[in-house]
Amino acid sequence: MQLLVPLLSILAFSRTTAAQANAPPSKIYGVNLGSWLLLEPWMLPNEWERMGGQTCADCSTCIASEFALAAAYPDDVDERFAGHWSTWFTQQDVNQLQDAGINTVRIPLGYWIVEPLVDREIEHYPRGGIKYLVNGLNMLRKAGIRVILDHHALPGVQAVNQMFTGNCTNTPQFYTDYNYGRALIWTAVMTFLTQLHPDFESVFSIEAVNEPLMNATRTPGLGEFGKNFVRTVRAMECLIGVNVLACQVLQGMPNAANLPERLIEASATDALGLFSPPVVEALTQSLPMLSYIAQELEWVVDFTACRDRPLITTKLVFPSFMDILWQYNDPANPLDAAIGPQAYDHHLYYNFGGVAAPDPEAYMRDICSRNDTQKDVLAGNTPLWYGEWALSTQFNATDDFLIKWADAQKLMYSQGAGWLFWSLKIESTSPYARQMSYFEGLERGYLTKDPAQFHDPNVCVPYRNSSDSSTTS
Ligand SMILES: *[C@@H]1O[C@H](CO)[C@@H](O)[C@H](O)[C@H]1NC(C)=O
Ligand SMILES: *[C@@H]1O[C@H](CO)[C@@H](O)[C@H](O)[C@H]1NC(C)=O
Ligand SMILES: *[C@@H]1O[C@H](CO)[C@@H](O)[C@H](O)[C@H]1NC(C)=O
Ligand SMILES: *[C@@H]1O[C@H](CO)[C@@H](O)[C@H](O)[C@H]1NC(C)=O
Ligand SMILES: *[C@@H]1O[C@H](CO)[C@@H](O)[C@H](O)[C@H]1NC(C)=O
Repeated sequence: MQLLVPLLSILAFSRTTAAQANAPPSKIYGVNLGSWLLLEPWMLPNEWERMGGQTCADCSTCIASEFALAAAYPDDVDERFAGHWSTWFTQQDVNQLQDAGINTVRIPLGYWIVEPLVDREIEHYPRGGIKYLVNGLNMLRKAGIRVILDHHALPGVQAVNQMFTGNCTNTPQFYTDYNYGRALIWTAVMTFLTQLHPDFESVFSIEAVNEPLMNATRTPGLGEFGKNFVRTVRAMECLIGVNVLACQVLQGMPNAANLPERLIEASATDALGLFSPPVVEALTQSLPMLSYIAQELEWVVDFTACRDRPLITTKLVFPSFMDILWQYNDPANPLDAAIGPQAYDHHLYYNFGGVAAPDPEAYMRDICSRNDTQKDVLAGNTPLWYGEWALSTQFNATDDFLIKWADAQKLMYSQGAGWLFWSLKIESTSPYARQMSYFEGLERGYLTKDPAQFHDPNVCVPYRNSSDSSTTS
């Protein structure tokens, strides 16, 4: 298997037109579509209240998550959310992103967007989000904006008391075989859609797990899950006839009826070691769910769709992972999961503390001398994008500081594959809007109109000691 990996990489990169068609943009200038299909009440407290939600200090104690709202209003929860999905992200936002030179968006998604994955006895989430996802992807595709699908809220919950996981709880249960299995089914579904649904054409990456627990001792099996995640992507690509090299054994064209047979045939030979038992199980379970979703979307799957694109055999998905720096206590290196092209995601927020002393000078010195990109390169975690960052601070920042703070972060994050701001928008009356809404940051002039530009490209020079000339370019 080790020997075959370079072969796959060659396949992915040698036919340049097709490789470029699905590679990330050469430099990502992006935003997250936070709180759209995965709602975080803190970003829009007024609308949340209108929807029937509440605000409280410990989000597990009131209606402060999608789970809690769905549990409180079982009869009309879908309508409550549909109103939000159709207004939070619209064509007008897409136009604004296009005007702002944004070339990529990261879309946080919950596992429940694949509705049959939800155990409705004990799990409560709205239904119907997938249609809005498809509609949004259609608008983005027409605007030429590329997309990262981000599995942001995992089955069983992957982090402690976080609204972004969909359910605030002290006892995250994601790190079990059952929930890893459900996440693999989600992955199989999203890979199928990414390769075959016309509106998913601008999707180039699927991210495995947003922000798992940082203490790797508390995430047993996560490294093996990562390997199965990549195998699931590649195995699905193989089943549907995209990744010909991995599936030379399969003869003839895939169709809706013969996928189960193809799965049996491919897993019996399994030249690349893709079809581990959890992967076979996930693919098997994904097929009826895909039928359900196709019906929901009124989509007649055209298995020749990908073949009709030029040289599409090389359009492989870029699986992506939080980088190795995210966890401590001897984490698995996500590089070890790679089969073909792959990418990495680093998040950096200063406002939670623990990064630099809470004052402007310390922030600037820290950001201007950080070498996370270089550390990730040494670990093989490249290409690397900064998938979340913001202008947030632990002190009351002046306008002048925020201009420098935006420049310095962009400068450092552009050393890798680029960056994605958190987030597109925040409710305008929220105190977070000034430092965490991209649109507001543009309006206030902290962020430059052209994301590739800086107010001052030398913003870091005064904050680096003179002997250190490593990072200007
Ligand atoms: C959701 O969170 C509540 C605590 O707020 C917890 O009791 C429950 O087990 C969680 N359910 C799931 C499925 O994560
Ligand atoms: C990491 O988790 C392990 C197992 O729960 C625990 O013993 C250890 O104290 C944790 N480390 C830190 C720094 O929290
Ligand atoms: C990153 O910076 C630290 C502190 O200056 C240094 O010890 C380390 O060697 C650097 N690592 C890389 C990969 O540049
Ligand atoms: C920031 O400003 C607000 C409002 O003026 C004030 O209440 C708060 O104490 C200030 N915070 C800090 C850390 O200075
Ligand atoms: C850089 O300069 C600052 C202040 O002049 C000093 O506190 C710091 O220790 C210096 N850092 C290095 C790595 O020399």
